[in-house]
Amino acid sequence: MKAGNNMKIAGKTMYVFVLLTITMVMRLAGNTSSGLVMTVGDSSVLTCPLKGNMTMLTWKIMPKAGGPCTLVYRVDTNVTHRTTCSDNINWTFRAGLPPALEIRQVGTAQEGNYSCEAATTEGNFVTRYHLTVLAPPRLSLSCDEQGSPVCEAAAGKPPAQLSWVPEGSSTAEEKCHDNGTVTVLSKFTACSTSVTNVTTCMVSHPAGNWSQTIACCPSEKTNTNIFLYACIITCVLIIITLLAVIYYFSLHSDRPCHKTKPPEIAPVHSQQDDTMEVEPYTTYVQKENVIYNSVSDLTVGQNLPQDQCPGT
Ligand SMILES: *[C@@H]1O[C@H](CO)[C@@H](O)[C@H](O)[C@H]1NC(C)=O
Ligand SMILES: *[C@@H]1O[C@H](CO)[C@@H](O)[C@H](O)[C@H]1NC(C)=O
Ligand SMILES: *[C@@H]1O[C@H](CO)[C@@H](O)[C@H](O)[C@H]1NC(C)=O
Ligand SMILES: *[C@@H]1O[C@H](CO)[C@@H](O)[C@H](O)[C@H]1NC(C)=O
Repeated sequence: MKAGNNMKIAGKTMYVFVLLTITMVMRLAGNTSSGLVMTVGDSSVLTCPLKGNMTMLTWKIMPKAGGPCTLVYRVDTNVTHRTTCSDNINWTFRAGLPPALEIRQVGTAQEGNYSCEAATTEGNFVTRYHLTVLAPPRLSLSCDEQGSPVCEAAAGKPPAQLSWVPEGSSTAEEKCHDNGTVTVLSKFTACSTSVTNVTTCMVSHPAGNWSQTIACCPSEKTNTNIFLYACIITCVLIIITLLAVIYYFSLHSDRPCHKTKPPEIAPVHSQQDDTMEVEPYTTYVQKENVIYNSVSDLTVGQNLPQDQCPGT
């Protein structure tokens, strides 16, 4: 009988202990904040669960950037009050429901702790949220001067994870920005060993997964090389043909070639030089000729004017 009683007592204490533990755990759970994840630019409405008839509702916001902010709503006067809160955070009134907190087009600055306190006829109800704001990275894939694919996941929060297909060695670097976002840059270095020219950059991020494909090093290099060689060979061939044609003409017809050559090569210089040098001389000669003609009637001989020319 005694043993049975003891067993019953032990069972009861055990039962009470379990109940206590459960309520403790529940209280702790009620005290902890529930995680809330939003992506930059998203909008969301935060509610405050409560029981009974509400008299006052208060939101306390502790953002990671900037000071704390408080929003208060009084049911009896239907009046809202707010301290310096971000413009995109405000009350939203829905018919038949207690007002809720609306976050429009969330930014990384709004990340932080949000807690609401509802004063009702049945007591105070506190709900805590921890808001995490994700910034999806901007993906860009390009080829650098060496023909290696370079993948950039810009301004991601948290930093994006970059990987390559086919797998190969790569170098990565991270740049942190003031607003908490991180730019990750990865250069694929094992290009020459890869069988295919096409590489794919894979970006994995809590806000989503993306991939981009590029054909970089081996194909582009050989393409430009082939183009270059083709150009050089064509140029050389054209020059050789021209030289051969010129040589052929110079061999078979000396006269026309020499006659046509000088004006083609330097027509401007020769003409200018001729007029510049000849004109004063011709006018001088003409004048001299006038004198000479008048003189020639008296004296016979052509040596006189030619001797006078260099002298005067
Ligand atoms: C809440 O208020 C309404 C009147 O606005 C009343 O009828 C109701 O009984 C109240 N409920 C509680 C739980 O106080
Ligand atoms: C938010 O609350 C957690 C504890 O729940 C605390 O560790 C953290 O520092 C708080 N963050 C801000 C921005 O107040
Ligand atoms: C309280 O005021 C808001 C505007 O601030 C309005 O939208 C809402 O309808 C009002 N509610 C009541 C019950 O008067
Ligand atoms: C990204 O891909 C991984 C598997 O590679 C998956 O577990 C994860 O859910 C994906 N994330 C998104 C946001 O789609």
